[in-house]
Parts: sequence; C-alpha cells; structure tokens
Amino acid sequence: MRSALPAVLFILLLGAASGNAGAQGDAKRGQYLAQAGGCLACHTEDKKGAAPFAGGRPLKTPFGTFYGPNITPDPQAGIGRWTEADFIRAMRHGERPDGADYFPAFPYSSFTRISDGDLRDLWAYLRTLAPSSRASQAHDLKFPYGWRFLVAIWKTLFFTPGPFVSDPRLSQQINRGAYLVQALGHCGECHTPRNFLGGPKRDRFLAGGKGPDGKSIPNLTPARLKKWDDRELGDFLQTGLTPDGDVAAETMGEVIRNTTSRLTAADLAALMAYLRSLPPLAAEPR
Ligand code: HEC
Ligand code: HEC
Repeated sequence: MRSALPAVLFILLLGAASGNAGAQGDAKRGQYLAQAGGCLACHTEDKKGAAPFAGGRPLKTPFGTFYGPNITPDPQAGIGRWTEADFIRAMRHGERPDGADYFPAFPYSSFTRISDGDLRDLWAYLRTLAPSSRASQAHDLKFPYGWRFLVAIWKTLFFTPGPFVSDPRLSQQINRGAYLVQALGHCGECHTPRNFLGGPKRDRFLAGGKGPDGKSIPNLTPARLKKWDDRELGDFLQTGLTPDGDVAAETMGEVIRNTTSRLTAADLAALMAYLRSLPPLAAEPR
C-alpha cells in the first residue's frame, strides 16, 4: 500500500499538469468564433422557431442536396456522446468518430486551418447549446456522389489538413484577416471557383465564378473590390447595402447577418485589409 503512494501522487500531479495544458475551452469566445464560422446557417432549419444547431438546412450543390446535421449535445440525435478529440478530428481532418470521411459540403477544407485553441473554444460553446432531439436527415445525392468512400479520393487530391500558419512577411493585421477569411469565414468555399470534381482552383483563390448552387459569385480580389473604398466595403459587410442602394442577394445576405456584421471592428478591418492585399485576378470566364 505504502509503496504505491509515490506512484499515485505522481499520477495525480501528472493529471493536474496535463489538465492545465489541455485547458478547458472558453465557451464565450467559442460563441464569437461560431459566428465568425457561420455554423448556425448550415446547421439550422430555414424556418421560424427552428431549434438552433439542430440541423435540417438543405445545401444544394451540383452533386445533390446535403443536410446540415444536428450538432447540439443531444446524446442520440446530436453529438452529445462526442469527446473534444472527436470534434477536433472532425474539424481538422474531416473524419467521423468511426473513421469515415465527411463530405466536403462540410467546409472542413477551410476549418482545418482553425487553431487548436479556437477549436477547443468552439467545442466548449457547442456543449452549452440546448440539446435537441431532432433527427439528422440523410443527404439526397446524385449517383455516384453518395458513395462516401469516394471522398477519400477527393481528399487526396484537394485536402491539405493543418492549422493556419501566419506569414512573418505580412503584418499581424493581414495575418489575422487571412485567418478569418481562410479558416473560420470559409469565404473561398463560395468565392473560389471549382473544377468539375468540385476541387477549388487554388490559383484562382477568391476570384469568383459559380457558387455551390450554380449561381454566379463575385470576385473578391482587388480587381473588382477596388470599386469600393473601405467605408463602402465595411458598410456592405455590416449591412448588406451597396453604395448604389442595392441589397445583397440572400446567400451573401445570410453570411452578412450571421457572420461579417458580428465581427469586432478590429476583425472586420483585418478581414478587409487582407482582401485588399490579395493579388488582383481577372474574373473567371463565364
Ligand atoms: C456550408 C455549410 C456548413 C457550415 C458553414 C458548417 N457546417 Fe458543419 N456540416 C455541414 C454538413 C453538410 C455536414 C455533414 C457532412 C457529412 O455528412 O459528410 C456537417 C457536419 C458537421 C459535424 C459532424 C456532425 C456529425 O453528426 O457527424 C460537426 C461537428 C460540424 N459540422 C460542426 C460545424 C461547426 C462547428 C461549424 C462552424 C465553425 C460548421 N459545422 C459549419 C455543413 C456545414
Ligand atoms: C454561401 C456562399 C458565400 C459565402 C460563404 C460567402 N459569400 Fe460573399 N457572396 C456570395 C454571393 C452569392 C454574393 C453575391 C451577392 C449579390 O449578388 O448580391 C456575394 C457577394 C459578396 C461581396 C460583394 C462583392 C461585389 O462585388 O458585389 C463581398 C464583398 C463578399 N461577398 C465578401 C465575402 C466574405 C468576406 C466572405 C467570408 C466571410 C464571403 N463573402 C462568404 C456568397 C458567399
């Protein structure tokens, strides 16, 4: 008995130390990050009174219709039985707890760039949501896209996992903006054109083209956005109104409502500074 005591103490100390290193995420920060990541839109039904994050939003793509699943802490219908490690694996590697691949309609190609600390905060926030027993529904995909194992091939071609790495040659502000756009904001999921396999054309980053629903999407590089000064661009990202009194179409309107209008002034400025720093690319030929 007595001889086991030092070992027990050691294990207790070790536990305390590692508990510290993997400190609990901060749910309040996580809520802000969830807004910056636009999680609500894809994971909530588009109707009045829908339970937030309980899933059911249809996402039309050329490959069929995906439905955002229930990500509330309900143990059956949601992800209540998940561990933080399961969540980080899903976001960083696009893998289910059982090892199957997620479809890239879940924008993990962007979310993989989210930092470990931010992922922990997001997880802490998701744990605070009201559990909903609304069952997730099956995706409605065209042959052969419903074959989940084909995603492995897609991932080998187009998916590079790993957190965002800042570029020391660029200012802190531009790096922050790049992180918001590339990782959390996943702006490229709509604004970067894709090839016929649904892979983003990397050399055409944010150059616009066709969105996931087949509608045309504007170029976000300075080749187009130079038409607006910072005040006009900031107003658009906060209110959806353009200088000539137009209103953003609904897809972007929702991004503005849920995401860009909720960024802090510093984050909005960083996001715009980054867009301004991009190489100007001509619009994608139609
Ligand atoms: C563009 C739409 C979209 C956005 C934005 C989005 N998701 Fe999802 N998410 C999906 C889809 C679609 C799936 C299901 C993928 C599949 O079945 O292969 C999914 C799956 C998930 C899963 C796995 C759920 C399960 O039951 O296996 C988690 C966790 C998740 N998303 C968290 C998030 C978080 C956190 C955010 C915000 C940072 C977010 N999602 C933003 C579309 C989205
Ligand atoms: C779900 C798809 C989607 C996502 C994600 C998205 N956008 Fe958009 N965005 C659009 C569409 C569609 C339009 C065109 C709206 C219109 O025609 O009124 C647009 C328009 C814009 C415009 C106006 C450009 C112009 O010249 O008219 C800006 C600026 C913009 N988006 C910035 C962003 C930023 C920054 C992000 C990331 C935080 C983002 N968008 C994420 C779909 C998206």
